[in-house]
Amino acid sequence: MSGITIALSKGRIFDETAPLLAAAGIAPLENPETSRKLIIGTNRPDVRLIIVRASDTPTYVQYGAADLGIAGKDVLLEHGGEGLYQPIDLQIAKCRMMVAVPEGFDYESAVRKGARLRVATKYLRIAREHFAAKGVHVDLIKLYGSMELAPLVGLADVIVDLVSTGNTLRANNLRAVEEIMPISARLIVNQAALKLKHALLQPVIEAFESAVSSHA
Ligand code: ATP
Ligand code: PRP
Repeated sequence: MSGITIALSKGRIFDETAPLLAAAGIAPLENPETSRKLIIGTNRPDVRLIIVRASDTPTYVQYGAADLGIAGKDVLLEHGGEGLYQPIDLQIAKCRMMVAVPEGFDYESAVRKGARLRVATKYLRIAREHFAAKGVHVDLIKLYGSMELAPLVGLADVIVDLVSTGNTLRANNLRAVEEIMPISARLIVNQAALKLKHALLQPVIEAFESAVSSHA
């Protein structure tokens, strides 16, 4: 396509991106939360949005099916980021990647004693690197969501998951024991498109940049 395609996921990324799109003069013609359409036009005939799963956003941008996208740092680290330029930390969808355990599980002493831990997570790469750096031996169990359940039913000793308010941990009698890293969403750009469509993309990137710095 000769215009710009922007990949976004529904939910918090779309909600928190809407003001940035507005700052760039882009208004979606439909609300993806209510529409079943996966390609959504905008007020600008040369700009369209595609609605993808959050964890698929880097894939669409990497292969050039989208020129721009917005993805969490968690998703980008798991994906690897090949072929992607990541010019801006948008400071949205902020949370923290944490290690959490059931109340009553003595994480510190398990680590001190060199116990082998069973870790349930959607974030295998991040978890593997975190525990390898600490020298803790782990068996990683891949889940696709609801990680908080795993230690409650004996599937794992600990989880690695995103925490924002802490409400989900509290509701399930878990406690965070370690922060792995802060997380926020980034603008991602297809590297080839950045060169080939520079004149079209640069003003959008700059509008996002100034919208972010005016909120800093
Ligand atoms: P998928 O649909 O691909 O499985 P998902 O369900 O994790 O992904 P969302 O819940 O929409 O997708 O989360 C999108 C991004 O928002 C995540 O990649 C993360 O960076 C961030 N995020 C996730 N949970 C929270 C939270 N509780 N508070 C703030 N930001 C969050
Ligand atoms: C995320 C994350 C936690 C929860 C943390 O889930 O996986 O479960 O948010 O937020 P809190 O600390 O404010 O409770 P999300 O709401 O995205 O649900 P999903 O992973 O099932 O999409």
